[in-house]
Amino acid sequence: MEYPIVNGLDFNVFNSPEESIYYSHCLRYLVFDRLNAAQNVVEFGSGDGVPVVSAIKKSNFQGLVTGFEVNPVASEKARDLIAACGLQDRYEVIHGSFFDEASFRSEDILISDPPFLPAKTNRIMDPLLWGGNDGSDIYLRLIERGYDTLMLMIASYSNPLKILSAAFDSEYVVQDFLVSPMTIGEYSREKPVWERLMEMKHAGEAFYSSTHFLLAGVVLGRNPARASMAEALTNVLTAIR
Ligand SMILES: C[S@@+](CC[C@H](N)C(=O)[O-])C[C@H]1O[C@@H](n2cnc3c(N)ncnc32)[C@H](O)[C@@H]1O
Repeated sequence: MEYPIVNGLDFNVFNSPEESIYYSHCLRYLVFDRLNAAQNVVEFGSGDGVPVVSAIKKSNFQGLVTGFEVNPVASEKARDLIAACGLQDRYEVIHGSFFDEASFRSEDILISDPPFLPAKTNRIMDPLLWGGNDGSDIYLRLIERGYDTLMLMIASYSNPLKILSAAFDSEYVVQDFLVSPMTIGEYSREKPVWERLMEMKHAGEAFYSSTHFLLAGVVLGRNPARASMAEALTNVLTAIR
């Protein structure tokens, strides 16, 4: 999938405090607070860096998070924030596409609140938030990479059953999750996104009400000894209609 920059230098920085705060909460409780040792973490799409900085400050995380952010304005904001908080030993943000820049080490934990807006076209308010025709493209590419553990924010309106089925085909189990309603905001209501969401709802690929969708922080791992919470997660993500 290509990421043409429609507005030239006019980059918008992702702005959804409700979603970013929840991502930060999931990072803290599902990832950072559970680590016993220093662990390297890699992040797809750091935005302005606030979620990771905030989670690191509230936890006892001893490793290094290496984030990748393709939006130059956002990555610069993230780097300024990291420096202002004195967290250079814990968090670095590299400007560029994750798919071009990130070197792969399977033992790193991959974290992301990825672009997941479904639309037939990437000509939307912020093309960098486009998740392909059904919103699942980036999830599938991240799953394909083969990290041992991922913590992905999965949206109930981005074909979650397809995303989970790809994860199961790649032998991941759902090790844990947290879920919360999110307000359907301006990104979702933009015409090309909203039209596609209505089609997907009819097709049983998107689950949302007139006001909310669900966002789940999901830990996917390859440890077969862990009981999978797949059925519970599937039931929850498809519950809101
Ligand atoms: C939903 S936003 C989340 C931002 C931030 N993590 C937060 O929760 O506030 C997704 C982010 O992914 C970035 N992004 C999109 N494609 C990317 C790519 N190929 N490599 C790195 N970042 C990318 C976008 O610019 C955007 O900042």
